[in-house]
Order: sequence, then structure tokens, then C-alpha cells
Amino acid sequence: MDATRDVAVIVGSLRKDSINRKVANALVELAPAQLKLAIVEIGQLPIYNQDEDANPPAAWVTFRERIKRASAVLFVTPEHNRSVPAALKNALDVGSRPYGQSAWNGKPGAVVSASPGAIGGFGANHHLRQSLVFLNVPTLQQPEAYVGGADKLFDADGKLANDGTRKFFGQFMEAFAAWIATNAKS
Ligand SMILES: Cc1cc2nc3c(=O)[nH]c(=O)nc-3n(C[C@H](O)[C@H](O)[C@H](O)COP(=O)(O)O)c2cc1C
Repeated sequence: MDATRDVAVIVGSLRKDSINRKVANALVELAPAQLKLAIVEIGQLPIYNQDEDANPPAAWVTFRERIKRASAVLFVTPEHNRSVPAALKNALDVGSRPYGQSAWNGKPGAVVSASPGAIGGFGANHHLRQSLVFLNVPTLQQPEAYVGGADKLFDADGKLANDGTRKFFGQFMEAFAAWIATNAKS
């Protein structure tokens, strides 16, 4: 029996009706039982400013502590202007500081990007991976997950309504669970 793992899920969209939040909810539902996934909100985080490091906002402290408690991190993000949404980049920056105390360090991760567009947020997915290299987040390589046409995948209740995508998401989460088992430190 594999160890239970606490996985922080970061959604890169702040939108109430976010497609990426629906994708995240579907991934949570389809994950193997040993993964305990929970969305960690980022919309409340003040924009990072190094001047605040000596006396950080409470929201930064809570967020950093929550990420530190997690064994792994799953990012589910839209693409904004071919890159990572500002809110998600801010969360990465907040979690990475103060210098030498990054909450992300060494936690295995995975990236899913979703868009109504055909290329499924490829640009955001890979810009995020660039930051994750520096943040020392060993990131699942295969399968890659660029979810195109994502606005067509959900029913009126926000439930995944596409069998092919359901199968793929299940396989993706199995691969992520194996990746965590190999790479997690806690
Ligand atoms: C500021 C902004 C920039 C966008 N840039 C892109 C883009 O580069 N590529 C893309 O596929 N979609 C882009 N979109 C469209 C988003 O994919 C679309 O709004 C999607 O629904 C966002 O995901 P969400 O539903 O999870 O918020 C952009 C949307 C906004 C608001």
C-alpha cells in the first residue's frame, strides 16, 4: 500500500466560472486514492514586494506554510498572452521567498494547462516549467497535458462530459502518483 500524500493544487485562474478550476476538480476526482488533493487559493495574495519580507502580510505566511506542508504540487493553469497568468506567477514568487526558504524546494510537481484554444495553453505550460526548474520542483515529463477545446468538455454542472478526456486525466494522475512516490521527500 502506497503512502498517503498531501497534494496542493494551484489553479492559475481567479475566474468564478474558470475552465481550469473545472479541470482541477476533475483531476481531483480521478486521482488514485493515496493522493489527498486540495485546491490552495492564490487570489488573496498581495502582489509580491521584497520590501515586505521583514514584515510579511499574513496571507503570504499562511500560503507558504500550506505549501511547505504539502508533499507535492499540481498546477492547473490557463494561458494569458502566451504565458503564465500574473496571479500564478505572483503565487510562485510569494512561495519562493524569503531567499533560501522557498516553500517549493524539492516538491515533485505536475503541470496541466487548459484553454478553449487549439494548443491548450502550451506557452503557459512551458513558461511555468521554466520557473519550476529554478524553483527545484522536479516536474512530471510524460504525459504532457495541453487541454485544447476545454470549454467543450464540461456539462452545465461543471462536470467532465468527455470519455476520452476522463481516461486521459485518470492516466495522468496515475503517472503523477508514481512520480510523487519516486520523488517526494515527505
Ligand atoms: C488576459 C488574457 C489573455 C489571454 N491569452 C490567451 C492566450 O495567450 N492563449 C489562449 O489560449 N487563451 C488566452 N486567453 C483566453 C483564455 O484561454 C480563456 O479566457 C480561458 O477561459 C481562461 O481560463 P479560465 O476559464 O480557467 O479562466 C486569454 C484570456 C485573457 C483574459
